[in-house]
Amino acid sequence: MESLSIPYPRSTFLSLLLVVSSLCLRCLASSGSGFTTRLIHRHSLEPLNDHRARVLATMRSHFHGTPLSSLGIDAVQGRVFPDNGQYLMKVSLGTPPVDVYSLVDTGSDLFWAQCLPCDHCYNQTKPAYDPRASSTYFDIPCQSSECNALDAASCATSSPGKCNYTYGYASTAYSRGFLAKEKITFSPDSGSSNATTIDVIFGCGHNNSGFSATEMGLMGLGRGRASFVTQMGNTFGARKFSHCLVPFHTDPNISSKISFGSGSEVTGAGVVSTPLVDGPDPTYYFVKLEGISVGGAYLPFYPSGPDPAGKSFNMFLDSGTPPTILPGEFYNRLVNKVRDMVRLEPIDDPELRPQLCYGKEVMSEGPVLTAHFAGGANVFLEQLSTFISPKEGTYCFAFVPNDNDVGIFGNFAQSNHWVGFDLEKDQVSFLQADCTKQ
Ligand SMILES: *[C@@H]1O[C@H](CO)[C@@H](O)[C@H](O)[C@H]1NC(C)=O
Ligand SMILES: *[C@@H]1O[C@H](CO)[C@@H](O)[C@H](O)[C@H]1NC(C)=O
Ligand SMILES: *[C@@H]1O[C@H](CO)[C@@H](O)[C@H](O)[C@H]1NC(C)=O
Ligand SMILES: *[C@@H]1O[C@H](CO)[C@@H](O)[C@H](O)[C@H]1NC(C)=O
Ligand SMILES: *[C@@H]1O[C@H](CO)[C@@H](O)[C@H](O)[C@H]1NC(C)=O
Repeated sequence: MESLSIPYPRSTFLSLLLVVSSLCLRCLASSGSGFTTRLIHRHSLEPLNDHRARVLATMRSHFHGTPLSSLGIDAVQGRVFPDNGQYLMKVSLGTPPVDVYSLVDTGSDLFWAQCLPCDHCYNQTKPAYDPRASSTYFDIPCQSSECNALDAASCATSSPGKCNYTYGYASTAYSRGFLAKEKITFSPDSGSSNATTIDVIFGCGHNNSGFSATEMGLMGLGRGRASFVTQMGNTFGARKFSHCLVPFHTDPNISSKISFGSGSEVTGAGVVSTPLVDGPDPTYYFVKLEGISVGGAYLPFYPSGPDPAGKSFNMFLDSGTPPTILPGEFYNRLVNKVRDMVRLEPIDDPELRPQLCYGKEVMSEGPVLTAHFAGGANVFLEQLSTFISPKEGTYCFAFVPNDNDVGIFGNFAQSNHWVGFDLEKDQVSFLQADCTKQ
């Protein structure tokens, strides 16, 4: 998700919003509170129906070889569950521990959880974390480096000495509360004896809005000073992590892995890497996309020569944004090429405009796309990562345009890859994988 507490032109995000929102008009209608960037396909949590069975069958027949397992054994691991176009990571918070499923978001920095007592909470399905019931909860004093690390935090006047924060996202969603220190436990599987417990600075949110009942908080995995990734560098040996996200519309009971610290490097045959570039916002994982191939046809990001604006980046990776968002001019060339290559007649569904959609129960006609990142990192995007089924009998190209010159490499495109973020080496690595088997 895009945070609003950023020195990046606000208009960028408003235009992203308009475009992204159009992907899910029904979701907007059900949120009832203006714009949302979060593409929540609420109906996809229904019991396994014929539609999903077919999607799963397509996915399963897709991979032939043995899945690659690329991780070292010393990495700290957690589980990630698909949740209507977003991903939830399970962690345990406090003593005694309470399970918190928080949205995995590489596009923001703060880890927060909805906390009792509520000034104003959204409904959540599982019991909320209550700091009063935990023996390891401590408020962070407002005169501290931890409080200073988050731009959105300051000294509370109503509760002297405490550090309050208000963290907003590129929609009406926000979390508001106090920064605190607490024990957080990662366990790769329930009942595992290999759980890892560390101290974490997090936002105990007593006033939160704009999230759905399955989302008990949000795990900000951005590059900024307050991010969990920066915090864990000391305890997990290095500031690096990797995730393998299952494709859209996977059975929500199928989880995959997220891995932190030393040993989380993505390695093995076929790994490609691209530099992480500093951009106008310290939170974002900026990279440079040279172009995209559709089948054998190469389309450069810039139609003639280098970036006219001379930037060293033109995209950032965001696990909290479902589609991939591209500057309009490049998007138009790309979508025209995809339309040329798919031997089907697109459908015009007013609900789904302006996306390229086809009326199919099972989609097998999509071309393989290759995202060419700087440094020779060619990332193959199979159909499962480029076409999603927003409703029964329909498949849509999961790329959308914006009117800015910076795009977002969204979570669908990242799915079925190990994506490794290494803040020590400043690089991102990709390795194709069947994430349903990780
Ligand atoms: C997912 O797991 C829950 C609880 O174990 C079960 O009730 C449900 O039927 C499962 N859903 C699917 C789609 O398998
Ligand atoms: C919750 O936060 C919002 C946004 O900052 C604010 O407008 C509202 O008054 C707060 N509500 C309560 C009950 O504190
Ligand atoms: C939360 O759930 C309760 C009980 O199910 C319901 O009465 C209430 O309207 C819900 N609130 C919101 C904001 O959805
Ligand atoms: C902190 O709380 C005070 C009131 O107690 C409020 O004026 C201020 O805006 C809050 N700061 C943040 C960052 O929420
Ligand atoms: C714990 O990790 C070791 C390797 O580090 C492994 O051999 C063992 O099976 C793991 N135990 C569990 C319960 O996952």
